[in-house]
Amino acid sequence: MSLSVTMGPRLQTVASYVPNGVNLGDIGTDHAYLPIALYETQRISKAVAIDVHEGPYQSALTAVKARHLEAVIDVRLGDGLMPLESGEVNVLTLAGMGGRTMLDILSARPDVLESVHDLILQPQGAESAVRLAMLGDGWRLKAERLVEEDDRIYVVMAYSKDDGWDGAELQTIQRSWIQRLYPLLENGSILAAEFQSLVQKLVWHFGPLILDERTDLLSRYMNEYKSMLARRMEQMKKSNNTEIIAKIREVSEELALVEGLRIWQ
Ligand SMILES: C[S@@+](CC[C@H](N)C(=O)[O-])C[C@H]1O[C@@H](n2cnc3c(N)ncnc32)[C@H](O)[C@@H]1O
Repeated sequence: MSLSVTMGPRLQTVASYVPNGVNLGDIGTDHAYLPIALYETQRISKAVAIDVHEGPYQSALTAVKARHLEAVIDVRLGDGLMPLESGEVNVLTLAGMGGRTMLDILSARPDVLESVHDLILQPQGAESAVRLAMLGDGWRLKAERLVEEDDRIYVVMAYSKDDGWDGAELQTIQRSWIQRLYPLLENGSILAAEFQSLVQKLVWHFGPLILDERTDLLSRYMNEYKSMLARRMEQMKKSNNTEIIAKIREVSEELALVEGLRIWQ
């Protein structure tokens, strides 16, 4: 029976951003595929694999024992970074969980984060909150990418303490989008009061580096967001509430801006 671990494109992308030779902390490890695959391809020295739930913890333990990797992959049961000593790992991966859960996990142990120089995140939801919180905490955005797996589009972000785009540089990218989309303000598609805040919201939602990719996947990702907005607008139109009119206008402005972002060359 083959024990080799096969990662899908989502985890492969997360793995691709892990620097070589590090001590990895994989939080929310579930089956521990990521640390196992990274160790077996000699990409990491050792790992601590953590999960808060008994079932995933047991499956990680079983997978690690089956490969006799207990000495190099330490599987621990616990919440977020709590089972770690400060200084034990220097890179963290958090994949496949909600963005707000990730932020709660990271903010709970600043002493552990002190020794971490790279952080690879694959949040499912709350992407803009994650991006803004990371920049607020002084992390640099090294790379971010969209990846498709089983017909779903995922986002992977790689942060570093000393390499990548800092907050001021990313603000410059944001300002360039404000300039590029300015014609929509001039032709009356958007009201001046909302223009800047809506562009900012969209840049942090889609990702300042991802927006520069101009790939088919980005175009699909934007179309999915537009469909979500269109559904929200239809729901709003069914309501008789007069206050909803302002909200409907804002959603239609957001739709126009997303289209502006999508077609900009
Ligand atoms: C959908 S799985 C993702 C597994 C793997 N990281 C991946 O991306 O394929 C999410 C895992 O995170 C774990 N998890 C959720 N909250 C956690 C927390 N606060 N601390 C540790 N693990 C957590 C869950 O138990 C679950 O096993």
